[in-house]
Amino acid sequence: MAYKDLRAFLAVLEKRGLLKRISVEVEAELEISEITDRVCKAGGPALLFEKVRGYDIPVLTNTFGSMERMCLALETESLDRLGEELVELFMPETLPATLWEKIKALPKLAQLASFFPRVVKTGPCKEVIIKDNPSLAELPVLKCWPKDGGPFITLPLVFTKDPVTGRRNVGMYRMQVFDERTTGMHWHIHKGGAEHARRYEGPMPVAVVIGADPAVVYAATAPLPHGIDEMLLAGFLRKEPVEMVRCETVDLEVPANAEIVLEGYVDPRELRLEGPFGDHTGFYSLPDYYPVFHLTCITRRRHPIYMATVVGRPPMEDAYLGKATERIFLPLIRLQLPEVKDMNMPFEGVFHNCVIVSIKKSYPGQAKKVMCALWGMGLMALTKVIIVVDEKVNVHDLSEVFWQVFNNVDPRRDILIVDGPLDALDHSSPTPHYGSKMGIDATAKGPSEGHPRQWPEEIEMCAEIKELVSRKWSSYGF
Ligand SMILES: Cc1cc2nc3c(=O)[nH]c(=O)nc-3n(C[C@H](O)[C@H](O)[C@H](O)COP(=O)(O)O)c2cc1C
Repeated sequence: MAYKDLRAFLAVLEKRGLLKRISVEVEAELEISEITDRVCKAGGPALLFEKVRGYDIPVLTNTFGSMERMCLALETESLDRLGEELVELFMPETLPATLWEKIKALPKLAQLASFFPRVVKTGPCKEVIIKDNPSLAELPVLKCWPKDGGPFITLPLVFTKDPVTGRRNVGMYRMQVFDERTTGMHWHIHKGGAEHARRYEGPMPVAVVIGADPAVVYAATAPLPHGIDEMLLAGFLRKEPVEMVRCETVDLEVPANAEIVLEGYVDPRELRLEGPFGDHTGFYSLPDYYPVFHLTCITRRRHPIYMATVVGRPPMEDAYLGKATERIFLPLIRLQLPEVKDMNMPFEGVFHNCVIVSIKKSYPGQAKKVMCALWGMGLMALTKVIIVVDEKVNVHDLSEVFWQVFNNVDPRRDILIVDGPLDALDHSSPTPHYGSKMGIDATAKGPSEGHPRQWPEEIEMCAEIKELVSRKWSSYGF
């Protein structure tokens, strides 16, 4: 059964010993960050800081910080399976041709319809409504790293609406708190929120949710194509529709069971210097000009939980959110690129810097085709390095991948360098958002790919000898 809200999930974590309550008083500035960094890197539990100096609201961090918690969050034993279910839902194995096949397809349509968000009258996020002098000062917003430009809301779910189509977007974009009523809105130019902003001529309504059931939080981080509602994805993940309530001061809806909702507006013409911020690359992202969010109202639970994350040198909590995306979206990528067998976005590459894919190669140049296709697919466009290996290579074993790359690559022939859009957080390119990317074809080559020499065989012991040695192993005295 779906988690009703964040608390229902925390109850499950606590029962399994995966949540630690910290009752000693801690500081929102740097102290929570250092504790979280240590615990996350050691593979520790989610952390609920019950007493934060100067605030009445507890702080939750590291909620998703392990594969076990990520699977629990999405109530699945296999994230790969979730991706396959998603494909099955949208792509029936055969297109229904006969009336009987059409009738058989109906339950699938009904199932899809049952995942659409549902508007309800009210919900716990309306227990307190503050329209007069709402203030961000009541929230224990973390300052994570010493050289951060200020405190940042690090796990916000930013709801916006396309002014023409009315379609919703939900993205996770950090927000630097400038004062009690204004924050930065760090939506990168490639993201859904920024695309909406480009379509408004004046102020655009924005609602920000802090703390919600885990499928809703994950969905905000998922790279869905523009126009597809993240709340529908959340409904699919939790197998129940997300209940939404209308906001008080803006024409938007937010999850009824949220902990805290900030309502307000962004005027896309108003920019302000944002950052620096100790980012998930492990470097401070450079200060830059971003839109400003103006707060008009806070609605929240009577005793809300402030949900945050600390990002920094990987692996941190966001690495597991990214892994979930890698697994869930792989079957969707394979719909378009059936030769792709597996994919790994290593933590060190922070999603956009490195993707390793294995392929079943059937024709010359296929590895390069796959690179170009990935660069043409949604946010994959921002991938700086794509490594392609043969299907037998385990992409999750970096030693095996590097062995293949270092031995199989003739740089002049096998490296493809192209120019194009880059992630806003890439600090290596001379120009922000634009620079070069590299594809490395580490597959075996034949004469049709400019390799007239024979390709060597990999060394392997014969099966009989392996079996013999296994049988006699204890007799050798090891
Ligand atoms: C913890 C965390 C923080 C993030 N911060 C930002 C951010 O500040 N700006 C941004 O554009 N993307 C950020 N992202 C990535 C986006 O949330 C992600 O690309 C998402 O797909 C955006 O949704 P959209 O495609 O609807 O814009 C962050 C992701 C995570 C997990």
